[in-house]
Amino acid sequence: MNATVSPKPSSDAPGWVKHARLKAWVSEIAALTKPDHIEWCDGSQEEYDRLCELMVKSGTLHRLNPAKRPNSYLAWSDPSDVARVEDRTFICSEKEEDAGPTNNWTAPAAMREKLNGLFAGCMRGRTLYVIPFSMGPLGSPIAHIGVELSDSPYVVVNMRLMTRMGRKVYDVLGADGEFVPCVHSVGKPLAAGEADVVWPCNDTKYIVHYPESRQIWSFGSGYGGNALLGKKCFALRIASTMGRDEGWMAEHMLVLGVTSPQGKKMHVAAAFPSACGKTNFAMLIPPASLPGWKVTTIGDDIAWIKPGPDGRLYAINPEAGYFGVAPGTNEKTNFNCMASLRENVLFTNVALTDDGDVWWEGMGPAPKHCIDWQGKDWTPESGRKAAHPNARFTVAAVQNPAIDPEWDNPAGVAIDAFIVGGRRSDTVPLVTEARNWLEGVYMAATLGSETTAAAAGAQGVVRRDPFAMLPFCGYNMSSYFAHWLKLGEKLQAVGATLPRIFCVNWFQTDAQGKFVWPGFGENMRILKWMLERIEGSAQGEENLFGITPRYEDITWEGLDFGADKFKHITAIDAAAWRKELGLHAELFGKLKNRLPVELANFQSRLRGSLGM
Ligand code: GTP
Ligand code: SPV
Ligand code: MN
Repeated sequence: MNATVSPKPSSDAPGWVKHARLKAWVSEIAALTKPDHIEWCDGSQEEYDRLCELMVKSGTLHRLNPAKRPNSYLAWSDPSDVARVEDRTFICSEKEEDAGPTNNWTAPAAMREKLNGLFAGCMRGRTLYVIPFSMGPLGSPIAHIGVELSDSPYVVVNMRLMTRMGRKVYDVLGADGEFVPCVHSVGKPLAAGEADVVWPCNDTKYIVHYPESRQIWSFGSGYGGNALLGKKCFALRIASTMGRDEGWMAEHMLVLGVTSPQGKKMHVAAAFPSACGKTNFAMLIPPASLPGWKVTTIGDDIAWIKPGPDGRLYAINPEAGYFGVAPGTNEKTNFNCMASLRENVLFTNVALTDDGDVWWEGMGPAPKHCIDWQGKDWTPESGRKAAHPNARFTVAAVQNPAIDPEWDNPAGVAIDAFIVGGRRSDTVPLVTEARNWLEGVYMAATLGSETTAAAAGAQGVVRRDPFAMLPFCGYNMSSYFAHWLKLGEKLQAVGATLPRIFCVNWFQTDAQGKFVWPGFGENMRILKWMLERIEGSAQGEENLFGITPRYEDITWEGLDFGADKFKHITAIDAAAWRKELGLHAELFGKLKNRLPVELANFQSRLRGSLGM
């Protein structure tokens, strides 16, 4: 029985919301979803603390020991809701061909009808939170605004860390500014008096994008990219279509600054698929044996890249926080990340130690006992993972000790190199430099990677993941390739020096299945070679696919890594590559409708040189 019926707060917007169309839309969604309350979020610390407290009371959050992890919380999700759901993600453009063969598609009218049914009354018993946010620095000409309506307080607090969220957004929006409307529900209405569960969600899930009208609707999941709609849904899927229309690019890339001992700074953007090392690379600490090198973070997941008047490409990080993979992160593999996580963190699906702190596989020695991500007693003998492999932390970017001073600069940073790379236990060499833009675009377009726990479904299977954008490109993948080629041509036409493109693979394994390359901080040696290639001071060897360093081209000071091993992970095995080319051809077969002819021709030449 609900004895103390709280008075329904008025759904009237506060005075600081001056946008009539926005207010009308909120009323319209509330009429459809029927929440008990509407709360207009202001993004204040008071609001954040209050919502966290609310979730501690409801059991959604566990407050961590303030002596160990001040102002931090842990959430455990429902075991059915632990990752992005790619097979439930839809691009609903008017024409199927505009979504292309790599996206799920349903006609917009049919999808709207379906969703209207699902969303009808779906917020009963809950509060609808109005979450205004800016992707990119508030008020900057390259930023875009979104408003997410969600029935999840967990989403509100995450959005506050991940984006510039709150009242100031309304000042930028004014009375009629543009915003991307994002509607989110966990899909679990409560009947009168029904007790809530700690992680409400629904077995039916839909993550839907309407690229032409720039709208996002998400139903049934409270987790990560399914629910924090500023991230993959807006900053990649919708933004990639904006970029196609307006001549810029939204990419699944980290952006870092790297400064040489001589004080020369360059900027690198790197596309690696989910859980393949972007956060680690973006926060890299060079080994002590390479003194004077410094890496600083601009972004760890998403880059918006626009051509500047000087013909160079300028990148910004549209986000303001990191939603990073916890397992595998420790003081050795990523010191800066661990330092970012000392306080003010939201953890999801890691384990809770007996002293009220967190633990995950690969963090350090296992505790003798803890509570695992499913709330069960765990010991090292239990044979299960204490943290879910896609367990994550949410933290504001400003807590990163290696944050780049330019990370918030609306003008962005000029990109000198693009890197693409996947998780491949064989075939793909440690590093290859493309000899020209077309070769680089081909490398990126045919990128393959073993699937990870970041998405629901089979794991460890090699799949093509062009530009690490397979689950994130909001339009036809072939048109996306054409967009990259066109941009290259446009910049070359004005005499600009295009960023160099490199392909890397940190993940080759030996016969025992162990990684051959030490990775992490040692990746600096490869980054150094790339920068010296750009400067013209480093050598390499040409092969079928581009330029690879010889053993003597890499600085080995302080690392015991033999020439044999190096040869093993940089060699090109013709038989393996003939097989690989078969997979490239399969991808291009699937994408043939709008595939740029330059890429098809490039592939034919490669096949020819492999005697295929
Ligand atoms: P999303 O946030 O999912 O887009 O992923 P991300 O690319 O930011 O992934 P992240 O950096 O969090 O990668 C996490 C996984 O990659 C962990 O399991 C790390 O241990 C592993 N990893 C990162 N860098 C390296 C490396 O250089 N070598 C090896 N072997 N593993 C690495
Ligand atoms: C990814 O899967 O690439 C992520 C995490 O960055 S999520 O936001 O859940 O998509
Ligand atoms: Mn990502």
